Order: sequence, then structure tokens, then C-alpha cells
Amino acid sequence: MSSDKFHQLRTKKEQALLGGGKQRIEDQHKKGKLTARERIELLVDEGTFEEIGMLVTHRSYDFGLEKQKIPGDGVVTGYGKINGRGAFVYSQDFTVFGGSLSEAHAEKICKIMDMAMKLGVPVIGLNDSGGARIQEGVASLGGYADIFLRNTLASGVVPQISAIMGPCAGGAVYSPAITDFVFMVKNTSYMFVTGPNVVKTVTHEEVSSEDLGGAMTHASKSGVAHFACENEIECIDQIKKLLSYLPQNNVDDIERTECSDPIDRRDEKLNSFIPDTSTKPYDIKEIIHAVVDDKDFLEVHQEFAQNIVVGFARMNGMSVGIVANQPAVLAGVLNIEASIKAARFVRFCDAFNIPIITFEDVPGFLPGTDQEWRGIIIHGAKLLYAYCEATVPKITVITRKAYGGAYDVMNSKHIRGDVNFAWPSAEIAVMGPKGAVEIIFKKEIDAAKDKEAALEQKLQEYTDKFANPYIAAERGYVDDVIEPSETRLRIIRSLEMLETKVDKNPKKKHGNIPL
Ligand code: HXC
Repeated sequence: MSSDKFHQLRTKKEQALLGGGKQRIEDQHKKGKLTARERIELLVDEGTFEEIGMLVTHRSYDFGLEKQKIPGDGVVTGYGKINGRGAFVYSQDFTVFGGSLSEAHAEKICKIMDMAMKLGVPVIGLNDSGGARIQEGVASLGGYADIFLRNTLASGVVPQISAIMGPCAGGAVYSPAITDFVFMVKNTSYMFVTGPNVVKTVTHEEVSSEDLGGAMTHASKSGVAHFACENEIECIDQIKKLLSYLPQNNVDDIERTECSDPIDRRDEKLNSFIPDTSTKPYDIKEIIHAVVDDKDFLEVHQEFAQNIVVGFARMNGMSVGIVANQPAVLAGVLNIEASIKAARFVRFCDAFNIPIITFEDVPGFLPGTDQEWRGIIIHGAKLLYAYCEATVPKITVITRKAYGGAYDVMNSKHIRGDVNFAWPSAEIAVMGPKGAVEIIFKKEIDAAKDKEAALEQKLQEYTDKFANPYIAAERGYVDDVIEPSETRLRIIRSLEMLETKVDKNPKKKHGNIPL
């Protein structure tokens, strides 16, 4: 082959590697951001990245674009190994037309998504883009729609993870929104449907990009982001950690890791952990840490709806999803945000065959006009629906309160909980003693000479009868009342028993979850 041909090839590849050029790379670094290629290098195992479509260029002839063609067209796409397992990655290059999405750029993303579906491996999207390539008009919008369709079809088949590492605005936000997990980086990323200028024109609100759609806004207020990371390196590390808990696809077995934490490790502290007063808060995360392998718990949605805790851990090396009411925040009550957060998590675990462990201490659903008018009925139903439909192994540990409808919802036996344990401190009843006594003994208390003494006596009666796990245990609604210190062992044994579980839902096109 002539040296000209080699020269031509090398020149094109060098051009592709340089993206928008040295100056724009420097500008990117000055903003505290890495380039598209640097991000991929950090994400994939060394030497495993196989780039696809490096020489693709746009085909636009308007606004002088025909003179500006950069091989790759603003997105690096390809296949690599992450933690030794395959994944497809796309990484938008802000140095090329602001990472904006042209028809060709969209085709590159669609190509790797189609391949990911055929191979059954996750897709990780690193987003850093000014949105639709303005010069291309509707061709770009069509490109977005092609991606949205693929995101939807891939949902529940292969894990999809989005990291927002720069701008993500307009309709572009809907691709990450359909994916399973959204990561954002504090101070350098933002997501919004309309930016601060449009907001100002329409609603007269003055708001910065960070306040409108920065990482902490979406992690704590809207719940759009599952993780808010300090910087890009932490973000990529967290993505890798999350992937380690997940299977490659919805029919793949999840890798079981070596476990050096003894399965029969008893944590005696747990036996005296629940406060004597049933209204006193405690931190459910301490229980989670005490029970899971090596105290290692990857919390999802850490900043959002903190009255419920969700995340991933391992039990004797098996990957599990954990859902836990958090008595330390709003007494662990179920409100709209908590219901939505947990429902989405339960559905993710079920879609990817990850067993669910539920720690329950819940006083019920949050009362009030705010919740009712915003639809706690429909949103609470999401969590109920998600638990009911889930066919993965489902284990519940009732640590304290299991009151009212929330008792049913939080993976009760009635909705196909496989193994339901209660601690001796469990209180399983229609409602808390005070509320119950004031309703059912109202007449007696009103008629009593010493109302306070009568109330006290009835409270005691009710507490003795219902504020315990034994009526539920007698009916088989809990399978066993266990010593808290043996929780780890009992959960692991149950998970091992349930390893071959098969359960099915009736055949249908799809259910109609109350959205
Ligand atoms: C073409 C774009 C672009 C775009 C940025 N650039 N966005 N080119 N289409 N959408 C180019 C700029 O012209 C510039 O080129 C380079 O990228 C870097 O942009 P700057 O503005 O210099 O960078 P910065 O100051 O950091 O600002 C970034 C930005 C801003 C906030 C993203 O560029 C911006 O507001 N862009 C437009 C965003 C937008 O309105 N997009 C359409 C959204 S609607 P040079 O050559 O000067 O370096 C949408 C619909 C999707 O996306 C619908 C899906 C259904």
C-alpha cells in the first residue's frame, strides 16, 4: 500500500482524536471538565475500548457546515469492558459543535444501542451537549426521537445508565430520564427542559442554571438524578460500582462475588438497637450496614425522599436491592416522593432479577391536604403495584411499626412476600395505639370520671394486644419472629433457599401501573 494511503488514514484518525482542537480541549479542562475520550479511558478497563464510527461525519450543507467536518461528529462511541464485563458507551464531545446532536451523531448512538440489545450488555451514556444541532433542524429532532425509542425498547432488557457531565437541555433530557439511573456532577452539569432565560420570560422567575437544574437540585428536589457526584472522577467510579451489582441483561445470572464476611456473623448491638419508646427515631442505615456484607451499601437517591432508603448491597456475595423505611426522617412515613422513589427501585430490581430485602418501620401514609391534593392515593399505589407485581425473591424484616395500609404495601406476605420476619419489637396493627384508642374507646373514655386514667388503661390494653408481632405470627403473616442479631444469617439462608424461585404474572401485553 502506498504511504499516501497510510498518511490519509492517520491524518483522519489524528483529527478525530483531537476533536474540536487543542484550544477547545483546554477550555473544557478550564471548566473542570474532562474530554469525551478522557472520560471513556477512566470508565473502561485499560486497553479494552474498541471505537465504532470514529470516521463518521455529518452530512449538512447549510450555514457553512460543509466546511467544518470533524471525524466522529461530536460523539465517541464504542465497546469496552467495565469490571471485566462488556458494555457499550457513548461519550459526547463538547469540543465539537458543543457536543450538539446531528443526524449522524444520533445514528452513532443508535448503532451502539442496537448492538447492545443484540449482545445483551449495558449502555452507558456520558452526556455533554448543547442539544439539537441547530443548523440541522428537524433531522436532529428525528435523531433524538430515534434514541428515545431505543431507550424505551431497551428498558428492562439491558441496564441503561446516564451521566450528565455538562449541559443537557430541552428535549435532550428525555433520553436520560428514560434510562435506569442518572448521575450528575456538582457545579458542571445541569438539566432542564427550558433554561433560566426562558423561565425568566415566561414566569418572571430569576434563577441560576445551578439552582434550576444543577446536580443537587435534581438529586434532592426533583429526584431526576439518582447520584450527585463531587467531580467527574467520583462520578465514573460510582457508575462502575453500580454496574458491579447489576446483571448484564434481564436473563443473565448476576455474578456472585467472594464473601469474606461470615454469614453467621451476629451483631449483638442489634438486640438492643430499637428504642424502648416507639416514637423515638433511629437510623435504619445502621441496621442495613450491620446486616449486609462488609457494611458496604451503595445508596441510590441518597438526597431525595430521605424517609425511605433504597440501594444495593451484597449478602454472602449475592447482589440484593434494599428498601427501608427511615424512622430518622419524618418518622419513616410514606409520602408521595418516597412512594415514587421506592416503586421505581423495586421495578428496576424486579426487571433485572435482583432480590429485594425490605426493612419495615412505617407509621403509615402521610395525612394532609398537600398529600391528598397532589395524589398520595395514586402515587402510593405505585409502590403497592410495584411490590405486588415483583416476582423476584422478596424478604421482609419488620423492625418496629407496620401500621395500616403501609403494612400491606411494604412487601407483606399477602402480596407475595416470600419470607417475612419480624423482630420482637415489631408492632403490627391497623394504627398506632393512641389513634386507635381514641376511636374505638371514645365513648368509654368520655364517660369516665378520670379520663386520663381511662385513656392510659385502654392504651395499655391495646398495646398489650396489638403492639407486638405475635398475632401476625400466629396467623402465619410473618414466618418467624427472630432475634435481631441473627438477621444477617436468616436473610442469607432465605436468599439461598429462594435462589431457584420461579413465579409468574398472568400473560398480558403490559399492566397499567397507576402513573
Ligand atoms: C450547534 C452548538 C450548539 C447547538 C452549542 N454549539 N450548542 N452548535 N447546535 N445546539 C456550539 C457553539 O456555537 C460553539 O461553537 C460551541 O458549540 C460551544 O458553545 P458555547 O456557546 O461557546 O459554549 P458555552 O458558553 O459553554 O455554552 C454552552 C451552551 C450554549 C449553554 C450549551 O452553547 C447554548 O446555549 N447552546 C444552545 C443550546 C440550545 O438551545 N440547544 C437547543 C435546545 S433544544 P464555536 O464554534 O463558537 O466554538 C433541543 C431540542 C431537543 O435540544 C429536542 C429533542 C426532542
